[in-house]
Amino acid sequence: MRYGVVMDPSPVRIVAICGSLQARSSNRALIEAAVRGAPDGVVVTPYVGLAELPHFSPDLDSETPPAGVVALRRQVAAHDAVFITCPEYGHSLPGALKNAIDWLIPSGELEQKIVAITAATSAPGRGRLGLRALRDTLYAVRADIVWGEPILRSDPHEAQVAALLQALSKRVQAQRDPSSVLASRLASQSASRPAAVDVQIGLASAEDAATYSAFLLRGIADHPDALRIAEADVRTAPFATAATADAATFVARDASGAWCGVVSVERERGRAKRQHIAWIVRMYVAAQHAGNGIGRRLLQAAIAHARTLPGVEKVNLTVAAHNTSAIQLYASEGFREFARETDAFRSPTPQTELSLSRLLSW
Ligand SMILES: CC(C)(COP(=O)(O)OP(=O)(O)OC[C@H]1O[C@@H](n2cnc3c(N)ncnc32)[C@H](O)[C@@H]1OP(=O)(O)O)[C@@H](O)C(=O)NCCC(=O)NCCS
Ligand SMILES: Cc1cc2nc3c(=O)[nH]c(=O)nc-3n(C[C@H](O)[C@H](O)[C@H](O)COP(=O)(O)O)c2cc1C
Repeated sequence: MRYGVVMDPSPVRIVAICGSLQARSSNRALIEAAVRGAPDGVVVTPYVGLAELPHFSPDLDSETPPAGVVALRRQVAAHDAVFITCPEYGHSLPGALKNAIDWLIPSGELEQKIVAITAATSAPGRGRLGLRALRDTLYAVRADIVWGEPILRSDPHEAQVAALLQALSKRVQAQRDPSSVLASRLASQSASRPAAVDVQIGLASAEDAATYSAFLLRGIADHPDALRIAEADVRTAPFATAATADAATFVARDASGAWCGVVSVERERGRAKRQHIAWIVRMYVAAQHAGNGIGRRLLQAAIAHARTLPGVEKVNLTVAAHNTSAIQLYASEGFREFARETDAFRSPTPQTELSLSRLLSW
């Protein structure tokens, strides 16, 4: 322990919500495993009122909300973190689970809450659309999602549940320790996040080419180790910034129209057999705007655009191995490493680069 830091010794309290109402639920089995296998210092308490919650209506959310709603809100507020298991129904999250979250939105208990989500699935690739819909809803309350992978029913799930609990616990401990890097980042995020509301994401057009180049050159100068593109590349071969059938560049502009961030997305060029792949490239948020959620919004805009490119089924990107903040952003949006190249570019020191990929069906 560092000098002068008093660690909070109270247990990490996690409330676990099962999105399935089925009596023999594989998703509830994950929660039971979490209760049984919680490590020392972690207490997992199942939430049991999902089936009895009334359908959400602002009209019912009066000064005396229904008793079940009060109990749900108190339970979430009284815990450090939330663990949600979520079956996929009709390519989305179950209505009962969405209903519970809807009740928590106006009262704010989920706002920036530390959350882990998973789904018990019968085969690889299943359950992801449910988790994606759940994630989208949780982003509305800026939940801090530390885990989002499904767990295969056929696998022994205890180890994965333990890893999930560990990720939750670590995040809670970091938030409790006011001297930790993560805690100060979380604090600055909550202080600065409202500023991001004024930022608009839009497509860059051909008229923006000069502004785009100047903005990107600043990024290259400020982050030579993070961006593999060099000043010479921009000067000798500026790429099209206008949206084409296969590419687009998104810009984040503040209320005055000043540029805060950019990202481009383009279908792989020149290879007939790789037309199902789009690349996300040249992502940069100006330093004074970093940490306000702009990078995530730009990335989501690029992914949404990739979905509109006919036949594109996955998105790839590369990131310097030391660029942990960018890697964390990409991982939280579902990107997974598929290759690692040492000495991938020189700035001038050799940089190791990761290749990450994510399916658009995710
Ligand atoms: C990487 C970059 C694009 C992120 O943009 P940003 O607007 O600062 O990021 P956001 O505020 O949207 O944060 C999104 C996520 O990134 C991660 N992240 C961002 N800054 C971080 C930091 N300082 N430490 C740890 N994680 C960080 C977190 O996972 C964060 O999610 P959270 O807010 O839910 O915790 C931006 O910092 C940047 O332009 N860096 C320099 C250029 C660069 O690295 N480009 C990427 C090349 S691949
Ligand atoms: C009405 C209904 C819709 C479903 N829709 C999907 C779906 O869109 N995609 C999918 O992968 N599984 C779907 N399933 C399968 C469930 O997600 C799966 O059975 C899950 O394991 C149920 O969770 P539980 O065992 O915790 O109740 C659906 C099941 C039901 C009953």
